[in-house]
Amino acid sequence: MKGSKWIGVGAFLTFCIVSVMFLTLLGQDLFKIESASEKASSAYQYHFVLVPEELDNEYWQLVQKGAADAAAAHRVYLEYLGPKQADIDDHLKTIDMAIAGHVDGIMTQGLDAKKYKPLFQKAREKGIDVVTVDTDAEGSKRQVYVGTDNYYSGFIAGQALIADTKGEQYVGIVTGRLDAVHQKQRVKGFRDAVAAEKRIHIAGIEESAITKSGASGAAYKLLNDHANLTAFYGTSALDGVGIIQATSQYQSTTDIYVLAFDTLPDTIQALDDGEIDAVVVQHPYEMGYQAVESLVRLQKGEKEEPLQYTGTSVIRREDLPLQQTDRRQGMQP
Ligand code: BGC
Repeated sequence: MKGSKWIGVGAFLTFCIVSVMFLTLLGQDLFKIESASEKASSAYQYHFVLVPEELDNEYWQLVQKGAADAAAAHRVYLEYLGPKQADIDDHLKTIDMAIAGHVDGIMTQGLDAKKYKPLFQKAREKGIDVVTVDTDAEGSKRQVYVGTDNYYSGFIAGQALIADTKGEQYVGIVTGRLDAVHQKQRVKGFRDAVAAEKRIHIAGIEESAITKSGASGAAYKLLNDHANLTAFYGTSALDGVGIIQATSQYQSTTDIYVLAFDTLPDTIQALDDGEIDAVVVQHPYEMGYQAVESLVRLQKGEKEEPLQYTGTSVIRREDLPLQQTDRRQGMQP
């Protein structure tokens, strides 16, 4: 009896020691962000995190470049963390991790207002400032939105199609994600702009998952499903180049009109080559730069305008070459 009691005590002590070791290791892992912040705090005033929809996406790298330049100018320790490939759950998890790491400010998209609202509220309750970039989560606790007026950008895309075409048009829409707020707004704006124009018909809409190959697959499907297509509208940065990959291989007698989004180099090249007819311009570098500056002002307790639109317009081949008129960097019409 006595012996078994001592075995019990020994087992209990071993359990306690192993638990302490486990919790210490787990703690180190969970608080990686915080220790980075502590390490940085001597040299930097603030610790901000930019959480993009997809890390290696060329468009987001421009947002990051703008944010990094502003961070350098304001002694901000900036992290760029997010999903390798677009995924809403991973995106939400990364934001949650940044909240757990007690950063000073978070810049991210509100891809689906319902899912992001509770997270933004949690961040604010912990004293973390939140600025949405590129995609707003209306009605959430974010303090500021910096980015394109997405509905308007879709509207001017529709106006461009009306101005550039004649006769009956059958349009295939390739959109980044059917469930993301900004993509829906770009489609809605477009639909509203062409609604009164009886000769323009929306034939169908397919998702690209914001990849070039996805866009080309979506365009193929639209071409196969609708033999009479005369135009395409791509609503995210790699959709235009994906669409022309499909149209260039498709045996068609009509010259298909292609309207793309964003001034990434391959898209501008295709505009110059006449494969793309018009491009909706956004200012990703500016978004990153202004979002950091806005967070810095919030940290200082200054009052901020909640909606800070970075401008949008449509360009055509005759607007090339683009001028470097952006206040810091990035091609602008
Ligand atoms: C959108 C971004 C998106 C990107 C995908 C851009 O047009 O504004 O939200 O992540 O396209 O390539």
